[in-house]
Amino acid sequence: MRIKPSCNFLLGLCSLLALGLLYYWSWRTNSGSWGHNSLYDSQGFLRKLDGSLPLELIYKYGNLSKGACKPGFAAAKMTAIYPKFTKLAPMFLDPNYKRFSKINHYLPPFGVKSQEKLIDILLAATQSYGLGEELDSMKCKTCIIVGNGGILTGKSLGQRIDEFDVVVRLNQAPVKGFEKDVGSKTTMRIAYPEGAIQKMDSYESESLFVLSAFKALDFRWLSYMVFKQKLRSTEGFWKSVAMYIPRDPSSMRILNPYFILEAAFKLIGLPYNNGQMGRGNIPTLGTVAITMALHNCDEVAVAGFGYNMNTPDAPLHYYDQHIRMSAIKESWTHNISKEKEFLLKLVKAGVIQDWTNGICGAGC
Ligand SMILES: *[C@@H]1O[C@H](CO)[C@@H](O)[C@H](O)[C@H]1NC(C)=O
Ligand SMILES: *[C@@H]1O[C@H](CO)[C@@H](O)[C@H](O)[C@H]1NC(C)=O
Repeated sequence: MRIKPSCNFLLGLCSLLALGLLYYWSWRTNSGSWGHNSLYDSQGFLRKLDGSLPLELIYKYGNLSKGACKPGFAAAKMTAIYPKFTKLAPMFLDPNYKRFSKINHYLPPFGVKSQEKLIDILLAATQSYGLGEELDSMKCKTCIIVGNGGILTGKSLGQRIDEFDVVVRLNQAPVKGFEKDVGSKTTMRIAYPEGAIQKMDSYESESLFVLSAFKALDFRWLSYMVFKQKLRSTEGFWKSVAMYIPRDPSSMRILNPYFILEAAFKLIGLPYNNGQMGRGNIPTLGTVAITMALHNCDEVAVAGFGYNMNTPDAPLHYYDQHIRMSAIKESWTHNISKEKEFLLKLVKAGVIQDWTNGICGAGC
């Protein structure tokens, strides 16, 4: 007799839940069949992509001289093919990062949860959170993300790369000795501990060192780099890591983890796994950097991206003639083919310019 009320209560709760689920389900399927489905793909991108400009953009940019930086171009084009896009997402963490609520509820690599104390200490030490006065005050910035692909070799793009306002390089990609093909300017080098340059004389003389943290331990590693302390153990890293970064704290930054979050779950559509790191749900650093640029640059170009599996003997990286394309292995963390679908949309729609045509290959 006593059990009955709670039983009724449970029953009520159950049917409520079932009803809720039913509504949710019908809403999902309906929003699919109410015309959205035919226009937009499952990630929310326009299905029909071409490089044409929306009318309002033709008007807006019509009077600019050829080659001039087009203010707001990348974000406007992105919004035209992906209406859910909202530009606001700062490049680096700054002391107000907790107000950027999107990243508060996720553990690394998708957010800052559990690392707040350490991040506060790091930000208090670096004291700088932007690109520097000159770049921060520009009304229109062009950015290029230089990937590490062997496809850069022999294309002599160096001079054109250096003309960008912001040149982003990744991990240990060298400049010295490769200037003709990859340029000599480095505004920032985005890296994780295992990917950062380990040979001190390979660093360019000036650039921002930007940590893209893929695990909690990476923040701890950065604290050793910022405070110039000796890293005693490399336990927890998946290979050897840099022990020293030849930069003042004021030239170090933390990349906003939101770009990993957005790239993984919204733009590429990798498995959500309760918002935690899991099989095949971590975007590669290159795609994270491109996502950052979409939010923070007026025009975005890339070079040195894409793997061409039809040429297994071609060098994988521009700086190493011995590692071949065929060395790419099925990876536990990344999903290269799904990621490529996303990058292809950006190139096809003209959101980003691919200077080495490695993303499309013969496919555009
Ligand atoms: C472009 O130039 C024309 C003629 O000078 C002018 O009428 C028009 O307002 C300009 N458009 C923009 C977006 O500035
Ligand atoms: C990549 O995504 C595709 C399509 O969702 C899936 O079939 C494949 O198993 C994924 N690969 C990895 C390594 O997770």
